[in-house]
Amino acid sequence: MPDSCGSSLLQTSIGPLQLANPVLSASGTYGSGWEARDFSPLSRVGALVSKTVTVKPRHGNPPPRIAETPSGMLNSIGLENKGADYFLAETLPRMKTLCPRIVINIGGEAVDEFVELAERFCQAGVDALEVNLSCPNVQEGRLLFSTDARMCERAVAAVKRVANVPVFAKLSPNVTDIVSIAKGAEQGGADGITAINTLIGMAVDWRKRKPILGRGIGGLSGPAIKPVALRMVHEISRAVRIPVIGVGGARTAEDVLEFVCAGASAVEVGTAAFVDPAVLVGVVDDLARLLAGANTSIAELRGSLAAPIAAQASHAPTQGACPAPQRGAEGAASR
Ligand code: FUM
Repeated sequence: MPDSCGSSLLQTSIGPLQLANPVLSASGTYGSGWEARDFSPLSRVGALVSKTVTVKPRHGNPPPRIAETPSGMLNSIGLENKGADYFLAETLPRMKTLCPRIVINIGGEAVDEFVELAERFCQAGVDALEVNLSCPNVQEGRLLFSTDARMCERAVAAVKRVANVPVFAKLSPNVTDIVSIAKGAEQGGADGITAINTLIGMAVDWRKRKPILGRGIGGLSGPAIKPVALRMVHEISRAVRIPVIGVGGARTAEDVLEFVCAGASAVEVGTAAFVDPAVLVGVVDDLARLLAGANTSIAELRGSLAAPIAAQASHAPTQGACPAPQRGAEGAASR
């Protein structure tokens, strides 16, 4: 039986990582959590995920770096951070005082850099690593490690060889087939997949004939991308055996439960924290209430989404000719 505050309803795990609840901060939207510490007790979120840390300090991209969009925002930060030395000395100790579970998001331009970061953060004692294979705001958006399944596998495998904590691979939606990349990460030994990073977009100031963001393009996040994220989480979770962490536009407990139903073991909340820095703890409270009201739990709900009719049909054995096109379909398509 669940206890009176419903905490057992919220318990989840991402592979070997046990969490009190499935609500995590999304990398890059919450810093280290330190600036938000007075808004809500961050010890109550499932885990804090850091902004991406790189080996060396990075200045990031030219401003403006943020553009608000209907139902979301574009960012082009360019992985600005003070580098691993500073993070290990100053930021990590503070982060550890905020929350019992700390996930460090690491970024590199080469496999060696991921490996160095993994070694150093494992030595420093963190609960998991999230490998950022998918930042769209660096290297001219080439997304080397998350557009090629073999490159993804190689990077993950190299990190796994040195890591003594769970390793999650954060993937990009800016690909034709995210499932094949997720399979590469699984093949490399990932303990989980984080899906999705931002969708590449742009905003235009037509009067100046210029893009609004200093770098021209950026990554779209927020409620606008939730349907894409849900679809990708669902597809990945059906294709791999490792857990999936959903991210993309979640801002309410209802959103989190949609991701869990679609197959996520945990959900990162990000852009919503720009509007309300206390949103994560509010979502945890609302989750307990919703699950108790529906007489279910995260464990029971996870991946319970019935296969959609279209998916069932597409997997059905094909016999005979294609069905005749519906009347008017051709006209509609050419409009
Ligand atoms: O530009 C940035 O720092 C964004 C990083 C990311 O989306 O991974």
